[in-house]
Amino acid sequence: MLEIENLTKSFGANTAVDSVSLSVARPTMIGIIGASGAGKSTLLRILNRMTDATAGRVTVEGREVTALRGADKRAWQSDCAMIFQQFNLVPRMDVVSNVLHGTLNARGTLATMFNLFPTADIHRAIDILDRLGIADHAPKRAESLSGGQQQRVAIARALMQDPKMILADEPIASLDPMNAQIVMDALRRIHDEDGRMVIANLHTLDTARRYCDRVIGMRMGRVVFDGSPAQLTTGAARDIYGADSSFSEAATSTAIEALETPGDRALQEAEAAL
Ligand SMILES: Nc1ncnc2c1ncn2[C@@H]1O[C@H](COP(=O)(O)OP(=O)(O)OP(=O)(O)O)[C@@H](O)[C@H]1O
Ligand SMILES: [Mg+2]
Repeated sequence: MLEIENLTKSFGANTAVDSVSLSVARPTMIGIIGASGAGKSTLLRILNRMTDATAGRVTVEGREVTALRGADKRAWQSDCAMIFQQFNLVPRMDVVSNVLHGTLNARGTLATMFNLFPTADIHRAIDILDRLGIADHAPKRAESLSGGQQQRVAIARALMQDPKMILADEPIASLDPMNAQIVMDALRRIHDEDGRMVIANLHTLDTARRYCDRVIGMRMGRVVFDGSPAQLTTGAARDIYGADSSFSEAATSTAIEALETPGDRALQEAEAAL
């Protein structure tokens, strides 16, 4: 379904993504982990064509995504919706309008300018919000919602595009453990029920292990691990993060128990430093 061949992205002398090759046969829930600067975001941005690769190619269902231009490129971008750590909603706009903006690619300029949405789209947006458990918030301003609720609005906006694939760049990095769980549960359900591929950059091992079918570990632009959650042992994780023997699993944990211990702050700081 998805074929990545020798994908490389350089910024001057710095190689952010270095000859990455991956093959995904069917829609899978994939977690990408790795230290800061490993190239995780750059890889997702190339897949979505927000950034162009320096070399290599991406093929999806036989179509070379890296070669698409103009309208074909925009159509692809709507086929693979992105979700970001900071939600990227319009804060002062109501929730349902934020979700409806997921259809902008498919609508005319005039309708867009006057914020005119077909009734059928409005009903669909409400249905999607309902599915994510936040339909009650539809008329509220996005900025009045909690982080977890805002991320679910962003997921709803993505679903409005009816994407083949959802690319999530650190979707839970700004959320507390409880909201992180709600958002990851939502992504997993979308994968299970709709058969959509989900690729998420994750900064914690336990989340990758718990929610993903396949985990990709990146280090300095390269794929250094590609396996099942069960194969992601502490030793494998240490190699991915380039950590020494003092590497602690707790430092990459979002588990509620891990954060409720007296060492709470120290753990969060260790996690931020990774
Ligand atoms: N637009 C850019 N211009 C120059 N260098 C960039 C640009 N974007 C990324 N890089 C560099 O590419 C490398 C990979 O960055 P990337 O953001 O993909 O890492 P990451 O794994 O997502 O890190 P993090 O966990 O901190 O989000 C880094 O060295 C970064 O400085
Ligand atoms: Mg990143």
